[in-house]
Amino acid sequence: MCGIIGIVGKQPVAERLIESLKRLEYRGYDSAGIAGVVGQGRVERRRAQGKIKALEAVVAEQPLVATTGIGHTRWATHGAPNLKNAHPHTAGRVTLVHNGIIENFAELKAELLAAGRTFESDTDTEVIAQLIDAELATGLAPLTAFKATLDRLTGAYALAVLIEGDDNLILGARRGSPLVVGEGEGEMFLGSDALAVGPFTNRVIYLEEGDYVALTHQGHEIHDASGARVQRAVRVVPASAVMLEKGNYRHFMEKEIHDQPDGCQRTISAYVDALSSTAAVPGDIDFAALERIQIVACGTSFIAGVVGKYLIEQLADLPVDVEIASEFRYRQPALRPGALVIAMSQSGETADTLAALRYCKSKGMKSAVVVNAQESTMAREVDVVWPIHCGPEIGVASTKAFTAQVSVMIALAVAAAKQRGKIDDAEEQRLVKVLLEAPRLIAEAIGLEDAIKDIAADVAKARDVLYLGRGPMSALALEGALKLKEISYIHAEGYAAGELKHGPIALVDDKTPIVILAPYDSWFEKSASNMSEVMARGGQVIFVTDTEGVKHAPAGAKVVVTAPASDPLVSTLVMSAPIQLLAYHVAVVKGADVDQPRNLAKSVTVE
Ligand code: G6P
Repeated sequence: MCGIIGIVGKQPVAERLIESLKRLEYRGYDSAGIAGVVGQGRVERRRAQGKIKALEAVVAEQPLVATTGIGHTRWATHGAPNLKNAHPHTAGRVTLVHNGIIENFAELKAELLAAGRTFESDTDTEVIAQLIDAELATGLAPLTAFKATLDRLTGAYALAVLIEGDDNLILGARRGSPLVVGEGEGEMFLGSDALAVGPFTNRVIYLEEGDYVALTHQGHEIHDASGARVQRAVRVVPASAVMLEKGNYRHFMEKEIHDQPDGCQRTISAYVDALSSTAAVPGDIDFAALERIQIVACGTSFIAGVVGKYLIEQLADLPVDVEIASEFRYRQPALRPGALVIAMSQSGETADTLAALRYCKSKGMKSAVVVNAQESTMAREVDVVWPIHCGPEIGVASTKAFTAQVSVMIALAVAAAKQRGKIDDAEEQRLVKVLLEAPRLIAEAIGLEDAIKDIAADVAKARDVLYLGRGPMSALALEGALKLKEISYIHAEGYAAGELKHGPIALVDDKTPIVILAPYDSWFEKSASNMSEVMARGGQVIFVTDTEGVKHAPAGAKVVVTAPASDPLVSTLVMSAPIQLLAYHVAVVKGADVDQPRNLAKSVTVE
């Protein structure tokens, strides 16, 4: 979603705001803007449609000389992604940036129009600026006017606000969208996440739901939703600056694909005891007593949940439902208190997943989240946090978070199987050793990159691509198709291979690449038959298998990609790299914007 930065500083602010916005660009890049207090309390804005580069050019032409300011990079919700809808928005004395959606904006706008106010944009955000300005006009002090406005808003917001006449002040508030305060030496920061303030400080305060804050050079004054003054803990976040560099890679996505052996290694280490080769899942979940698990998630995290379902049901004989959060939250699912809800979310902020999680909690279910952002809203609301340890993920298309999530699911499956008496000590030890070996195999699979690059040029010419797999590979087929369409804009579909003859086979012709994911497992023979069916109809098969499968594969595939052989427990981890690399290199061939694909955002904090 949108990115926010605010600085009450001592040094020139324009460059610092832009530096921070560049880090936030993964959240949205439809337009960008900054505003600063330019002297005698006057506020000026600079805005541009498109990416931060465009804003930089505007600022180079018309410098903004200020030491206090706010900035925003937008992922459009209300109002087209054009200049007039770019943040910051100004009304009278108020200039502000916003992440979220104001649900009652139409009603508030009608009221403000009736009172004679005029609007310059189509956004819901401008309503907030107008409301604060109207409150200020009645003589209220800034913080009181701000609170009076917040009380009238329905929906989600993170806000950073400048008020003309107050050189040394930024107001901020959060409800439904995250916001952090950063503490510097004689300067203060506000950001939509810790990455935003990362270039300036590693001392951050994660504001709670409903909090609002006044920042000055001297410090901050935080109030909770009731208006009471509160203290919130200051956390020192690990210096993530280094992790945000692309290093020698062209794109964050490429780097993050290559980060996976390390990310999985760190994650797996947190969920097993390597010395005794046992699963050691943190938290007090009694899997033996559980009646079922409900996984809720969106996007790639949903697909990690599907892999989890296959593994947990098969190994632990524990029923698992996995559902897309946006459907789940509105369909009144039948839930029972004896179940555990697991939210899967890289960001921990996805609006639909959060709502689904809260719904389950309201039904008395115990809750857990598999999450990368450990200070996120979901992490703070659940009974058990199961972090992934892959480091910040910047590429909009998720890669290393996916394999880290799957790593956690595998550890959960082994732990649940053991606790439920479905495997003995020896089998637990065998499986844990298999899991500990996975990072090495992932690294070997990444070594297929050159071979995959060669295939990419051909796939880049396709109009449609079909991905097929069985068992956990059917989930990976969904992920392969999702990755390709996200970043290369080629239409792709992922199917359980058994469904081939119920529809997708109609798409098969000699121009459609068909990626069949078939490691040598109990589904292999069936997948090989599907390959023959496709080839009999002229289909161009890219057969992604392993060193065992290649010995048994029917002849005739256009290309065979041979990943290292692996135990079925970890084959989704090993087979992920080839499909991620294929999507990546196809997008590169097509010259697409890999890290910031059109219309997408990294973290979707609105419905
Ligand atoms: C967006 C991102 C995806 C991500 C999905 C769920 O669509 O582009 O990469 O999988 O949101 O996000 P979450 O943070 O909940 O995992």
